[in-house]
Amino acid sequence: MEPFYRGKVRDIYKIGNTLLLCNSDRISAFDCIFKEEISGKGAILNRISNLWFSVFSHIPNHLLETEYQNFPTPFNSEEYRDRSVLVRQCQRIDFECVVRGYVSGSAWKEYKTHGTIAGVSYRQGLKESEKLPEPIFTPAVKNDTGHDENISEAEMEKRIGRELFLKLKNYSLELYSTAALKTEKVGILLCDTKFEFGILDGEVTLIDELLTPDSSRYWDASEYKLGISPPSYDKQILRNYLESINWNKEPPPPSLPISIQNEIIQKYKEIEEKLNLCISEK
Ligand SMILES: Nc1ncnc2c1ncn2[C@@H]1O[C@H](COP(=O)(O)OP(=O)(O)OP(=O)(O)O)[C@@H](O)[C@H]1O
Ligand SMILES: [Mg+2]
Repeated sequence: MEPFYRGKVRDIYKIGNTLLLCNSDRISAFDCIFKEEISGKGAILNRISNLWFSVFSHIPNHLLETEYQNFPTPFNSEEYRDRSVLVRQCQRIDFECVVRGYVSGSAWKEYKTHGTIAGVSYRQGLKESEKLPEPIFTPAVKNDTGHDENISEAEMEKRIGRELFLKLKNYSLELYSTAALKTEKVGILLCDTKFEFGILDGEVTLIDELLTPDSSRYWDASEYKLGISPPSYDKQILRNYLESINWNKEPPPPSLPISIQNEIIQKYKEIEEKLNLCISEK
């Protein structure tokens, strides 16, 4: 069966009014997908997402089934085990609900050029990667071209109305703050992350993946320094390798030696273990 949609990393199948989200073992960097697959990566990302969904079970979410044996045929086979979820298809709200606890990435670029983050002025002298006094909500419009557009809170509110805006903002801040507190305890800083929501039977519902290394920038606390952009926990090894061979970041991507593939999967395993630990702690 051909996927209904193929993202860089996930394959999406449409089955009636449900979707099967399947995490492949593909890995990408600088918008390029590498030829080599990182065996086991898809399952790790999927388990991390499911684990976080279980932490936030009081927020309605799209999950229908996580056990592959209970997926409809032909998805009830080993191939889909651990790496897939069956979800209710929702009417997607076309915004990325981004929350940032630190100033990094596009927020740092904006601050450096305009002194603002998501259109709001910030005090002078913030350093790259500095922790913000409070986590902030910095939404973006989802564009099908793949390039999301950052907008201000006021603009989002104007487009979807105050009630829905506040609901999405409050859910997002709660998700971020709870998760960041937990991960800090195991030496992982949650720099920023994005959530997606949809509407199902008139109710705001959390969709997509939740707090995975693909949707979030996690930092190793021991690598954290002000004034630089610490590599994200999961991509560090790949980035270092790509730098060491001076890849020009243009396709085609170079091939990844087995030793690097092994180091990458070890890193994913390490993140999963740490997240398991902090999530199971009361
Ligand atoms: N329950 C749901 N109902 C409707 N749409 C959903 C649901 N869960 C996820 N989606 C959508 O499914 C798509 C998943 O695609 P995916 O994240 O793999 O690729 P992408 O976001 O287009 O690109 P990238 O590979 O850069 O992440 C997203 O567009 C997401 O908004
Ligand atoms: Mg996506």
